[in-house]
Amino acid sequence: MFEARTIVSSAGKTDFYRDLRRQLDGLLDEERDPIANAANTSALLFALMPDLNWAGFYFLRGDELVLGPFQGKPACVRIGIGKGVCGAAAASGKSLVVEDVDDFPGHITCDAASRSELVVPLLRDGALLGVLDLDSPLVARFDMDDRLGIEAVAECYVRLSR
Ligand code: SME
Repeated sequence: MFEARTIVSSAGKTDFYRDLRRQLDGLLDEERDPIANAANTSALLFALMPDLNWAGFYFLRGDELVLGPFQGKPACVRIGIGKGVCGAAAASGKSLVVEDVDDFPGHITCDAASRSELVVPLLRDGALLGVLDLDSPLVARFDMDDRLGIEAVAECYVRLSR
């Protein structure tokens, strides 16, 4: 029973992210401006993904991350590399899934409603451009399927934005 439910839910997410990618490709296809594309990417994610309270971008500026286009409540503007979930993902160049933000030492609270978080680095030829950050009011909102799906979204954004 548990396995069947898991498979059904995973298949549902695979379809969801395939459809999301198709819509994102269409949305970004005619435009290369990185700010315009980040704005529309965060709007699409926020509109289509259930149980999010924040979706947006931080861009690498010098030795820190600076807030980019997003959807949700106003957020902290500058995050040092290595600080918080975003800074940790930026420092390692690897995605981070945080099931419960209370269990992540140094988590930076922007919206007190956030309970779990997924941060995916934006990489071009191995160089860090920034991160894509999703927050949820639900504990353990994000799993490996979400991580892979949002990594594909980040790859699409980087490829179509210059
Ligand atoms: N929680 C993040 C900060 C960014 S906000 O969630 C929008 C962090 O710990 O890096």
